[in-house]
Amino acid sequence: MYQVPRGTSDILPTEQLYWRFIEQKVVHVCQLYGYERIDTPVFEDTGLFTRGVGEGTDIVEKEMYTFEDRGGNKLTLLPEGTAPVCRAYLEHGLHNLPQPVKLYYFVSAFRYERPQAGRYRQHHQFGCEAIGESDPALDAEVIDMAWHFFQSLGLNRLTLLINSIGCKQCRPKYLAILKDYYGKYAQNLCADCKVRLERNPLRLLDCKQPSCQQVADAAPRNIDYLCPSCDEHFKRLQKYLDLLGFPFQINPRLVRGLDYYTRTVFEIQPEEEGSQSTIVGGGRYDDLIEELGGKPTPAVGFATGIERIVRNLKREGIAVPLLPKPHVFLAFVGDEAGAEAMKLAAKLRRAGIGVIEAMGSRSLKAQLRQADALGARYTLIVGEQELKSHSVILRDMTTAQQKTVSLHQIENELRDQITSRE
Ligand code: HAM
Repeated sequence: MYQVPRGTSDILPTEQLYWRFIEQKVVHVCQLYGYERIDTPVFEDTGLFTRGVGEGTDIVEKEMYTFEDRGGNKLTLLPEGTAPVCRAYLEHGLHNLPQPVKLYYFVSAFRYERPQAGRYRQHHQFGCEAIGESDPALDAEVIDMAWHFFQSLGLNRLTLLINSIGCKQCRPKYLAILKDYYGKYAQNLCADCKVRLERNPLRLLDCKQPSCQQVADAAPRNIDYLCPSCDEHFKRLQKYLDLLGFPFQINPRLVRGLDYYTRTVFEIQPEEEGSQSTIVGGGRYDDLIEELGGKPTPAVGFATGIERIVRNLKREGIAVPLLPKPHVFLAFVGDEAGAEAMKLAAKLRRAGIGVIEAMGSRSLKAQLRQADALGARYTLIVGEQELKSHSVILRDMTTAQQKTVSLHQIENELRDQITSRE
């Protein structure tokens, strides 16, 4: 028997109510903040990610699903959504629109990671990007939007962490200081950190190994080495978050796993599970558009993993609305009645009344059992008698009461019954 590939999952009908609930809140919140939807392809030129996400990152080095198509093009399944949105912004000249351009997306993201709870090889993201504005008020607005989104889902037990990792003017100086500091502990670092020290020193700060964490805790902090304009940007962001009443924490070790970030970085984590199950990651990426061949264009955004949101909704016991399903089951006895039932089902559906029609030639008792199992509120029964009298039996499945209704009145009768119960 085949099984789903490791690290992927089927989203069965019983799970769909969570996904639809989240989608509905996304659409609502995006509309409140003026974000419009964009969809990009599921694969892109590999270069977009090596360039955009960064050569030294885990994603590019170890996790991308890269393949050559039959035409010899080197392609990669989306590991994240920001670089593709920036590619689209450039390709379609969206810089000609009023700035910032605010876009949101749902994507499947593919990363060859070690699967565990909340970490998959295919996961789904809702993300949003605001491109073309450097004002820290936009950073605050983006964070407010992420927070608002979780409030609308009923998720409140969350922690907001922020940091600033400076810009290309001030970061080199900080990195030199950081490398200098870490150089003294090089012997004690884990194998990954020894490589990070050479290739991506900022990532030393978020190593999860206990021995490396001690070194990281006492490391020089990026926020102490910001240039005046990054410092001012970060202070204003904090002022705006205070204004909005956010209980944020500054975490000087927050660095994120993608290379494109500048200045603001932030994460939202569930209080229980902490950094292993970050629910939102985001920040500013003022150099990415230029890196991809455009003019310097500041931007900020975030993405959140839908699987992790579902996990949190379940853990917090949040009740999500049931999905609508047909109220009516249509049973029949005999071939001739079956033909009449088929016409009736088609007519009712066109009138906007959902119907599940019995199939095959099961006994009426078996059909009623099926109606019960499906949770139908009403069953319509067409038998020989009803055929003759151009009518149908309407059975209320909760009370087991039945009455005969003429075929030309059944549509209105059902509508009245359904609306009186809603
Ligand atoms: P990211 O932190 O790599 O950022 O991913 C965003 C979110 O996707 C994470 O916070 C997490 O909820 C979810 N996620 C990531 N990897 C997995 C996985 N393997 N399994 C399940 N969920 C996962 C980005 O992707 C950036 N593009 C975010 C961004 C947008 N920054 C600026 N704009």
